[in-house]
Amino acid sequence: MKNILVTGGAGYIGSHVVKQLGEAKNYNITVIDNLSTGNNDAILYGNLIQEDLSDFDKIEKIFKNNKFDAIIHFAASIVVPESVENPLKYYLNNTINTTNLINLCVKYNVNKFIFSSTAAVYGDAKEIPVKETTETNPINPYGMSKLMSEKVLKDAAIAHDNFKFVILRYFNVAGADVKGRIGQSFPNATHLIKVAAQTVLGQRDHLNIFGDDFDTPDGTGIRDYIHVDDLANAHLIALEYLENNDSDIFNCGYGHGFSVKEVIDVMKKVSGNDFKVVTAPRRAGDSAQLISNNQKILNKMNWTPRYDDLELICKTALDWERKLDLKKEVV
Ligand SMILES: NC(=O)c1ccc[n+]([C@@H]2O[C@H](COP(=O)([O-])OP(=O)(O)OC[C@H]3O[C@@H](n4cnc5c(N)ncnc54)[C@H](O)[C@@H]3O)[C@@H](O)[C@H]2O)c1
Repeated sequence: MKNILVTGGAGYIGSHVVKQLGEAKNYNITVIDNLSTGNNDAILYGNLIQEDLSDFDKIEKIFKNNKFDAIIHFAASIVVPESVENPLKYYLNNTINTTNLINLCVKYNVNKFIFSSTAAVYGDAKEIPVKETTETNPINPYGMSKLMSEKVLKDAAIAHDNFKFVILRYFNVAGADVKGRIGQSFPNATHLIKVAAQTVLGQRDHLNIFGDDFDTPDGTGIRDYIHVDDLANAHLIALEYLENNDSDIFNCGYGHGFSVKEVIDVMKKVSGNDFKVVTAPRRAGDSAQLISNNQKILNKMNWTPRYDDLELICKTALDWERKLDLKKEVV
């Protein structure tokens, strides 16, 4: 059995990874989460230690009292517009707390570090599809806080022989557990597919399209939507990968994209609901297209996507949203 520490394991993506680790049956799982956006119910396996990563003394005690083989670090603040208004929250929670975790890993010999990074490190990408070698140039504090953490990881791995990392740069994560057990629960999430599902259920009066004058075939932004369980699986593969390979960075996406209008059409189709859509001005910092080149993860890590299907992504997201809606009615 391997002992795995998962920070942010009560959150959207972390809970899907905890689920897959639990189902794999050869991992002991410890979750650290402050439940600020996560949910206790989402942790299907392992033990939760409810703690904030900024409490360095308490976090160090957890490292002292356990012998972890690897850490998968999800905990972060993730809302781009908020990061523009309150950048220090992002540098503290994302960069400083990550640096402290890296320091503790080095100190307590936790030699494998899987890090949740983001396509936001590329900013307005210089080439599409985006390769791992494409220039990084974040255009908001969220992306910069993640890129800075990447740099700390790289420098730590250079200085400390045994310490290795896999950085996974996620594109647009969407969908939910196909069995409907977990999904994205935080009500104020800003992700298009979740917001579309909330609109289907009447929780929102309409769905905004932020800009229809981009240089794309239908004028709306194009993104690479990856199902959360395919992404989660990449973390389990990354754990294995580090057994015999060096540190590396991988894009996590399907290598093709859909426009906002295409996503809306699919959500309307799977829900049978012709919800109201309103065109709004572009948001600062939104680029026309962001699509991954995923050849590296396919070839080097043998990652095999199973849910590359926008209808399935929208349907699982909608089913999950319905479940949340029912829970609210019961309460
Ligand atoms: N959702 C996406 O589309 C997306 C895209 C790219 C990258 N990511 C990255 O994936 C990771 C997970 O994102 P998510 O969508 O699951 O978000 P989420 O908000 O659902 O999960 C984050 C979890 O971390 C916990 N947390 C936050 N700060 C903490 C702290 N200081 N101490 C302890 N726990 C803390 C929260 O309670 C929550 O459970 C993040 O690092 C994010 O930057 C997400």
